Amino acid sequence: MDAGIVKQQEVAEGYFRLTVFAPAVAVAAKPGQFLHMRCGDTLDPLLRRPISIHAVNRDKGEVALLYKVVGKGTALLAQKGKGDQVNLLGPLGKGFTLPERNEKVCVVAGGIGIAPLFCLLQELTARNHSAAVFLGAATGSQLLCAGEMERCGHIVHIATDDGSAGFPGTVTGLFEKTITPGSSSVDRVYACGPRRMLKRLCEIIRLEGIPGEVSVEERMGCGVGACLSCACKTRGEGNGVAYKRVCMEGPVFPVGEVVWE
Ligand SMILES: Cc1cc2nc3c(=O)[nH]c(=O)nc-3n(C[C@H](O)[C@H](O)[C@H](O)COP(=O)(O)OP(=O)(O)OC[C@H]3O[C@@H](n4cnc5c(N)ncnc54)[C@H](O)[C@@H]3O)c2cc1C
Ligand code: FES
Repeated sequence: MDAGIVKQQEVAEGYFRLTVFAPAVAVAAKPGQFLHMRCGDTLDPLLRRPISIHAVNRDKGEVALLYKVVGKGTALLAQKGKGDQVNLLGPLGKGFTLPERNEKVCVVAGGIGIAPLFCLLQELTARNHSAAVFLGAATGSQLLCAGEMERCGHIVHIATDDGSAGFPGTVTGLFEKTITPGSSSVDRVYACGPRRMLKRLCEIIRLEGIPGEVSVEERMGCGVGACLSCACKTRGEGNGVAYKRVCMEGPVFPVGEVVWE
């Protein structure tokens, strides 16, 4: 479908927030799902690009995406502005399982990984459920959404690789330092970020026996289960492995399911 762009804003250098008018998507969207975006107006690039649903305003019929410019597709998307049309498919994929009301929730985001997690936090806010958020970035200027999350009542812990804001080091390092081993300070973890970060986080929370879900990224073709280009290695029956399609069975998977390499 074509959707009209309501707003396109550069929120940090190279990071954009795009808001489109798409009432049907806004009604159907669940945190963790994504849209498959046609980024340009020609056949180059041919393939759509998957971008997570970042925020939803059902009253206004608007859906927001938060993305980082990394290549041709995202650079073309960033050139669009208010009043332009953008073609999208979605909402696609399987989103996060919402926590029980009394669960102590931790959200761990690395860089642009905050994009889908913000939508989950928006849903928690609507349910009066606050979370502890661990937000990591390379540098302070790339910490996205921290103020908005705090204003919604979530407690935000910050880590930067260069030490320019918050804890100097990785977000998983900060998470490990903050949670009390063996205690019941965390009931459920949700995470999204670079593969290396997710691998380390999964090691920590599996050791602690904490359940959780991660949103993983793979390059995609069709986005609807037909081409198998987005296969992700997961644990299968016994000691075997099974390949699952990130666009259909994911992008959100239970913590113990993904095989990290
Ligand atoms: C389910 C899902 C949700 C996503 N949500 C977001 C989001 O909310 N915000 C956001 O900024 N990005 C998101 N991404 C990643 C985004 O799809 C890619 O950054 C985008 O497709 C790059 O397209 P491009 O043409 O700009 O770059 P390309 O020219 O295609 O690639 C540029 C560089 O980025 C790397 N790259 C491209 N695609 C991916 C990918 N899927 N995973 C890892 N590395 C990749 C390439 O290896 C290359 O180094 C998501 C990916 C998936 C699978
Ligand atoms: S992108 Fe085609 S099967 Fe997932």
